[in-house]
Amino acid sequence: MSTDATPRLIYLDHNATTPLDPAVLAAMMPYLKERFGNASSYHTAGRLARAAMEHARAQVATFLGATPAEVIFTGSGTEADNLALRGVAAATGRRGRHLVIGATEHPAVLRTAADLAADGWEVTCLPVDGEGRVDPAAVRQALRADTVLVSVMAANNETGVIQPVAEIAALAHAAGALMHTDAVQAAGKMPLQVDCLGVDLLSLAGHKVYGPKGTGALYVREGTPLRAGLTGGPQESGRRAGTENVAGVVGLGAALAAATAGDQPHVAGLRQRLVDGVQACLDGVQVHSARAPRLGNTASLSFAGVDGEAVLLHLDLAGIAAATGSACSSESAEPSHVLLAMGVPPRLARGTVRFSLGRGNTAAEIDATIAALAQGVPRLRALGAGL
Ligand SMILES: Cc1ncc(COP(=O)(O)O)c(C=O)c1O
Repeated sequence: MSTDATPRLIYLDHNATTPLDPAVLAAMMPYLKERFGNASSYHTAGRLARAAMEHARAQVATFLGATPAEVIFTGSGTEADNLALRGVAAATGRRGRHLVIGATEHPAVLRTAADLAADGWEVTCLPVDGEGRVDPAAVRQALRADTVLVSVMAANNETGVIQPVAEIAALAHAAGALMHTDAVQAAGKMPLQVDCLGVDLLSLAGHKVYGPKGTGALYVREGTPLRAGLTGGPQESGRRAGTENVAGVVGLGAALAAATAGDQPHVAGLRQRLVDGVQACLDGVQVHSARAPRLGNTASLSFAGVDGEAVLLHLDLAGIAAATGSACSSESAEPSHVLLAMGVPPRLARGTVRFSLGRGNTAAEIDATIAALAQGVPRLRALGAGL
């Protein structure tokens, strides 16, 4: 896809972030300009901001099949994950101090759970199979009388694999535990109705759905115990203090209102074109999680004998943006924890590139990417830029 700022960029990194939808920006603009009121103020300017925020809250609730009172706005998907884990832990700690999480969770969940473990919580990390899926039987085994929360993501950011959240939620509930899902990557790419998923808490982020960065939301089912993460003013019913980012919230609501799974057949078709094209012209290409239910936009490909970073550099020089894993781990030299948990050998994990497509991508862009890989990967292999 091309944007004004980067006219020739072929952007295949939508799981890192998406471009802001112009209609979303248009919805936000008045709240960055003339409608600048504080949503807590009693005067007209404040009431206009409050009304816009509550409209956005209703949009998020509709997107999830929830009620507006069950939506808390946050400053990111990371904050939503933190609030879910820490908020439930703080509110239910007396009942038990055991958490269950998936091995391939985003660091926003993994590191938060590690932090709770440092505070004396016991954390069970669920293994995944070779496709990256959590086996509900492993959840059943992990649950204990003192388990308060199970957190398993709806879809993985690196492979796109979709977890059996509804099945896991039923098991968690039968054991008296609450269920959280990180749906940051799933939003807009698969149905996310909280009653079908059976979850008590669900995290979202605006910038993965063509909305603004620095916005997120946590769905909290009515009656779920949750201690506030940020304390201060009475905003968000006392569950997340701080003057609200009205323009951001408006953008999040508008982005989710516009998000439909309707783009997905187009995107999934392009993903297939990419995978077929790459496999037709290159040997030694492995597609991760190909046999599991997956988001239609994500292709995690290992190129045997090369380093993923070298492939990325080659693609970048050709004006093509992809990633080696999650954006958060792109500064780390360690192979992806997701691929390692799936049993992918470290050498192959290092040779992995994630392509994540979006609604603006075209067949011509995919063909240009295939051509760039067909030209670059054999050269990198010959140069020994690999493993
Ligand atoms: C699955 C998942 N959870 C959480 C996050 C964090 O969201 P944010 O970037 O809004 O903090 C991301 C971002 O990459 C993600 O992919």
